[in-house]
Amino acid sequence: MAGYLLYSQTLTMRRIITCCTFVFLSMSQPVVAQIAAQKPMLEVLHWWTSAGEVDAAQVLRHGLAERGVNWEDYPVPGGGGDSAMAVLKARVIHGSPPGAAQIIGPNIQYWAGLGFLQPLSNPSLAADGLFYPVVDDLIRIDQEVVAVPLSIHRINWMWLNPAVFERLDLPLPTTWSQLLRAAPRLREAGIVPLAHGNQPWQNATLFEVLLLSEAGPEFYQRYFVEQDPAVLEDARVVATFERLRQLKSLMDPGMINRSWQDASRMVADGAAATQIMGDWVKGAFTAWGLQAGEDYLCLAVPGTNEQHLYSIDTFVQFRDNPNPISFQPFIETLLAPQVQREFSLAKGTIPVRRDLTMAGFDDCSRASHHVFSQAAAEHRLAPSMAHSMATSPETEDAVFEIVHRFFIDDSLSPEVATAQLAQSLRALK
Ligand code: BGC
Repeated sequence: MAGYLLYSQTLTMRRIITCCTFVFLSMSQPVVAQIAAQKPMLEVLHWWTSAGEVDAAQVLRHGLAERGVNWEDYPVPGGGGDSAMAVLKARVIHGSPPGAAQIIGPNIQYWAGLGFLQPLSNPSLAADGLFYPVVDDLIRIDQEVVAVPLSIHRINWMWLNPAVFERLDLPLPTTWSQLLRAAPRLREAGIVPLAHGNQPWQNATLFEVLLLSEAGPEFYQRYFVEQDPAVLEDARVVATFERLRQLKSLMDPGMINRSWQDASRMVADGAAATQIMGDWVKGAFTAWGLQAGEDYLCLAVPGTNEQHLYSIDTFVQFRDNPNPISFQPFIETLLAPQVQREFSLAKGTIPVRRDLTMAGFDDCSRASHHVFSQAAAEHRLAPSMAHSMATSPETEDAVFEIVHRFFIDDSLSPEVATAQLAQSLRALK
């Protein structure tokens, strides 16, 4: 039976080859020339589906085409990339990995540890001091580079509609109490004080920002990165849960399953006064034609002015790709100074290359750049847990679940949530 199957498959293959050879030979010369001139395709898996993210991906697509390769888009919707990672796993297990994939944070080490990632060599990737040490640590395994870094997000931002505050004669909130005091006046005017989408990753993003605000970067590091048993049940974690519940009272019932970009739209339209979210929001505002400092403002989340809670976008190549093509044009595209600049302008990030100036960037990006360099020099950068920069995927899942449950169930006390989270973090350390 197996022999027959093999025979019939071989026969089919032969028929396909014969047929294709016939079609090829009988084609007119211009068609043949056109096919020969067709560029190789690189399939790129990512989770960029909002207006700003699509514009930013477009910058990469053009840069790649200029280097002779066509970008075959494989976007997987879902902010934060959880769905994208599930799809990627399924494709790798199936033996059909994409040509390039967005994988970020310690997940890079995890995939590399399993032997799936292709080591990369390129002069820029090896250049001394081109990237911050924190970036070098992320993309290297035993001195071998396995990922291409692209740009850096700051997550501890509050986005505001200045016209709303001006019209109601309210001070711009730089403290929690100012925001809480503004809330009744905003509500009276029919404006939601804080726009949010009640999705587990958005709740987790808010939680980590609040922990940083409440406890500072050193504590944040011990809690999320080291999962140090000595701090897991600290009163500052309880206070963070309390703050989360307090902020929930500033949100609207429409938040259930709202996407982050719909929440941003509310701020842009003046339906909401503020949103707390990473600077991919700025990418969306840019795509909608809005100007920083005029149509919207960015303020560091109260208590985090000097802090930088970051995520870094990086791409990898898989070994054993069924359609291998050279990865060099992709690496060169991502690291080209002009692409780095245009991509970051569209995405809301800052370039990962340290040798580029911030001329032409708005005040939000300049602030992000300034705070990142300072915090990097003083070793107090905070890697985002919610955006896969701080822990294993299992730990991240556990945090998402407990924070989400606390967020939707008002009968769960901050103390109980703290204890549950401590138990998970201890178990998963
Ligand atoms: C990624 C960004 C993306 C954001 C929203 C973050 O985890 O680093 O590139 O724009 O999620 O989906």
